[in-house]
Amino acid sequence: MHRLSLPELHATEALAAGLARALPEDVAGWMILLQGDLGSGKSTLARAMLRELGHKGAVPSPTYTLIEPYDLGKSLIYHIDLYRISDAEELDYLGWSDLEDGLRLIEWPERVPGLQNQADVLIQLRYEGDGRAAELTGLTSRGEKYLARLALPEASYSP
Ligand SMILES: Nc1ncnc2c1ncn2[C@@H]1O[C@H](COP(=O)(O)OP(=O)(O)OP(=O)(O)O)[C@@H](O)[C@H]1O
Ligand SMILES: [Mg+2]
Repeated sequence: MHRLSLPELHATEALAAGLARALPEDVAGWMILLQGDLGSGKSTLARAMLRELGHKGAVPSPTYTLIEPYDLGKSLIYHIDLYRISDAEELDYLGWSDLEDGLRLIEWPERVPGLQNQADVLIQLRYEGDGRAAELTGLTSRGEKYLARLALPEASYSP
């Protein structure tokens, strides 16, 4: 597990850029979970990742649409917000299995119990003073290797 403090917005954006750059060429089937309280920076992180991957336009929060797809040429990213979902069955209505051709970047994953067993990486964000802190956990071996590839700032460590 990697922990790092994100004292200001720029630090969250820098982490996001690193996360974007370390992604494999083929992101099909990848799942990254973004967990944390309201306003902890999940959408900020997703938005900055999309920008780093070359997306130029707006990145609306998927709170109401639930899924916002981004076809970035070489990578297909689904930005997903499960805040309004209450069980795994509802995922079927969303066409969940059709999303396996891209990277699923998921806010509020804890709304669907068991999702963590299918994901590659868990990113937990929390408030720390005026800023935020992050804990990054690899949940699969490819997820662990991905995090090991990240160029993380000095302040982080892996116990
Ligand atoms: N490291 C940081 N330090 C201080 N402020 C930050 C940091 N990272 C992000 N922020 C700010 O915190 C807010 C995070 O809002 P954001 O919409 O990203 O949260 P969220 O976790 O997606 O919330 P929700 O659960 O409502 O979807 C933004 O105003 C952003 O500028
Ligand atoms: Mg959000």
